[in-house]
Amino acid sequence: MLRPWRENDAPSLARYADNPRVSACMRDAFPSPYTMDDARRFIQMANGPGHPLLLAIEVTGEAAGGIGIHPLGDVYQRTAEIGYWLGEPFRGKGIVTEAVRALVPVVFQQTNLIRIQAGIFSNNPASMRVLEKSGFVREAVHRNAVTKHGVVMDEILYVRFRDPEG
Ligand SMILES: CC(C)(COP(=O)(O)OP(=O)(O)OC[C@H]1O[C@@H](n2cnc3c(N)ncnc32)[C@H](O)[C@@H]1OP(=O)(O)O)[C@@H](O)C(=O)NCCC(=O)NCCS
Repeated sequence: MLRPWRENDAPSLARYADNPRVSACMRDAFPSPYTMDDARRFIQMANGPGHPLLLAIEVTGEAAGGIGIHPLGDVYQRTAEIGYWLGEPFRGKGIVTEAVRALVPVVFQQTNLIRIQAGIFSNNPASMRVLEKSGFVREAVHRNAVTKHGVVMDEILYVRFRDPEG
């Protein structure tokens, strides 16, 4: 289930996000270590004014991960980035694929966005697979675009467009 973040999600958010195998695939804005204070701050931001769309992925009653849509603004006003992560115990069950497949059509329906994209680090084939299974196509390789923990990697840009009739 996708739903807004709740204040009482802070312990599960901190538990599952505080994992180097999660943060290694995320931008540096994703804290590591991920403390209870980080979790409380994030939940407050996610529910505050002017925030992008940030939802919890709830699995068997607890917040197991997160998914978000971030419009880029300016001349990219009809483009948004999608981002997501899932706690390690929940992986490999198709959960994030299901989340992306559910969220993207609703976002296109409820906004004037025409393009949703994701930049995936080249060492993250699982995330590329999620997007391929969700109707995204590989659009570009940004060579040496990412430096994470001192390692330089390519960024693979995936995109899904609003359906012509949508
Ligand atoms: C990437 C991530 C979101 C995937 O979530 P998930 O719920 O496990 O994904 P799904 O089960 O829906 O699909 C994963 C797919 O990747 C495949 N996969 C997993 N590891 C893989 C690997 N090392 N190489 C190739 N494919 C891999 C799985 O087999 C599955 O594909 P299949 O259904 O064709 O078998 C999750 O691992 C995660 O949170 N990682 C850390 C944070 C992150 O990477 N966020 C995305 C940043 S862009």
